Amino acid sequence: LRQIKADADDFGLMSYDPAYMNTAECKSTITYIDGDKGILEYRGYPIEQLAEHSSYLEVAYLLIYGDLPNKERLDWWRNRISRHTFIHNNLVELIQAFRYDAHPMGILISCVSAMSTLFPEAKDVDDPAVREKQIWRIIGQVPTIAAYAYRNRIGRPFNQPDNSLSYTANLLYMMDYMNQRDYQVNPVLAKALDVLFILHADHEQNCSTATMRGVGSSRVDPYSSLSAATAALYGPLHGGANEAVLRMLQQIGNVKNVPDFIDRVKKGEGRLMGFGHRVYKNYDPRAKIIRKVAYEVFEATASNPLLEIAVELERIALQDEYFIARKLYPNVDFYSGLIYQALGFPIEYFPFLFAIPRAAGWLTQWLEMLDDPEQKIMRPRQVYLGAARRDYVPLEQR
Ligand code: ACO
Repeated sequence: LRQIKADADDFGLMSYDPAYMNTAECKSTITYIDGDKGILEYRGYPIEQLAEHSSYLEVAYLLIYGDLPNKERLDWWRNRISRHTFIHNNLVELIQAFRYDAHPMGILISCVSAMSTLFPEAKDVDDPAVREKQIWRIIGQVPTIAAYAYRNRIGRPFNQPDNSLSYTANLLYMMDYMNQRDYQVNPVLAKALDVLFILHADHEQNCSTATMRGVGSSRVDPYSSLSAATAALYGPLHGGANEAVLRMLQQIGNVKNVPDFIDRVKKGEGRLMGFGHRVYKNYDPRAKIIRKVAYEVFEATASNPLLEIAVELERIALQDEYFIARKLYPNVDFYSGLIYQALGFPIEYFPFLFAIPRAAGWLTQWLEMLDDPEQKIMRPRQVYLGAARRDYVPLEQR
């Protein structure tokens, strides 16, 4: 790589690190992961303690402001978010313009992008007050976009946000997937969704977060960066994995087909979705918590036959040399899809349910990047392997 020279004085040494497997792109004080030991901490707090004692909105505050709030600050924060849950009428019309079967992630990407035109002041990313207001708006409005997209899909009237409810209870209420009159949200289910939101709130420099930072490094408004991050999350190897897990379980169809399926995976005919992680080479700590939540949810709802298939897949894979040798363990998405399904969400909404809580992480990482004096516009280099210089050949001579 010594041939690469940035300028005449450059001695030409660069690292070639495809997919940035071994490159730290930033210094960060937000989320700590030890992939070998299976540790995940937000601002120093273990994920297990936050999942047990905290709420999603409190965790979002912790990420963004760096410390847990006292009661007064938490009330203030909740109030800020609940004051921004209603969406602009242009967004309502935009959602209605989509086909009924449009993938919700496509709708989310478009709506968040459109928000940059509705709040043009957001482009002033150097003003801390402007930044803060966009954060309230994004965290407040993203659940409403999710619910309206769903109601549009099923051709039902939109339910306006009910700000007396918790963040997740309000989402369930607005979706009202049972189409019940006077729908009362089951607090067990709202709490389960809240725990899932805590687990998904941040995960340091994953594909979508790196996108948020990379696009944001051009100092574009946060809506445009967040729209790009959402697009990154849409992919089946990232936020689309929970959707892929459920489709895989449906395809397996029965516990007795599990050994055959595992054999096919080992022959390279597809992957065991919800298994493996770039960083966790031990158990994903979020998967442990989520497994417990799955059983709690199934006690409150009808049991799901796919859970049996998932448990059997996990049992066999954890004893199989192929998975052991490659350090492939269940990740956060292995059980989350089953829970989302039990809560009544259609499969296409699963990545959306990842994006809603991850907005807090993306925004926190974006703030950190903006305030880091060592950060510049992201601009990696490449190793050029194409043709050597050659002359243009006119069309008639080719
Ligand atoms: N099933 C079967 N084999 C697998 C799996 C899997 N889920 N994941 C990795 N492998 C195998 C690969 O085939 C490869 O085997 P080889 O060495 O014989 O070629 C080896 O394990 C290493 O795989 P890589 O692709 O190099 O691992 P990487 O770190 O790049 O990939 C990833 C991580 C993308 C998560 C991968 O494990 C995967 O595709 N998992 C399934 C999708 C998934 O669940 N994604 C969610 C990730 S978590 C999140 O985004 C919240």
